[in-house]
Amino acid sequence: MSDDRLIVALDVPNALEGLKLAETLGDTVSFYKIGLGMLTGGGLALANELKSEHDKRIFLDMKLFDIGATVEAAVRGLSQFDLDFLTVHGDPHVVRAAQEGKGGTDLKILAVTILTSLDRADLDAGLIKPGDIRDIVLERAANALNAGADGVIASPQEAALIRALPEAAGRLIVTPGVRPAGADLGDQKRIATPAQAIADGADHIVVGRPVWQSPDPRAAAQAIVRELSSPQARTPNR
Ligand code: C5P
Repeated sequence: MSDDRLIVALDVPNALEGLKLAETLGDTVSFYKIGLGMLTGGGLALANELKSEHDKRIFLDMKLFDIGATVEAAVRGLSQFDLDFLTVHGDPHVVRAAQEGKGGTDLKILAVTILTSLDRADLDAGLIKPGDIRDIVLERAANALNAGADGVIASPQEAALIRALPEAAGRLIVTPGVRPAGADLGDQKRIATPAQAIADGADHIVVGRPVWQSPDPRAAAQAIVRELSSPQARTPNR
């Protein structure tokens, strides 16, 4: 049984590998994320195939950032594909342009706040203003939602704070940086377990390596789906 709160990141090198993994996962997973790593490996063709042949939902993680006119044109082009979620950076001009580009389609524009693999030292290196990372995420989330984003991408460690924003009412919170207890962190730094992320207000969690690097990806995904139905994953007041 699947649970579309779980989005599995298909961070494998090409569409063929992605399709093989999706077939292994079968009906355990109903929502997939296709990212930049697969852009040159047939990612859009895979998105089409998973949608039309396998009835899966698709999150295209392009993290677009450019001048407004270019973002609008890119999103207009992408909205001809039958996609569910698309990411852009959370800068208000980018979000507004993406909303223009999607026109009347049902595509949800999700705004990236601060990558979950970054900590304060990384922000210093990127000349991002001083201050607590959570305050910056919260400010970026509020700005992106005010600019019309359908939701935000954030660390599960910031999900509860974002959920409490008035701007977040009725909008989506999607959290990568999710690790089942005991799983290898990889390069992720601001993480939580699947149950904790949902309990803190995430609508969807994105999990990559703990599933696709597992010797038994289907069992790994099934364990996460089970965890999402546990009492620990109950969201208070929702
Ligand atoms: O393997 P792992 O579970 O860390 O994969 C997380 C996925 O979520 C990767 O595809 C990564 O690009 C994506 N992501 C992220 N942090 C963000 C936005 C997307 O880790 N802020």
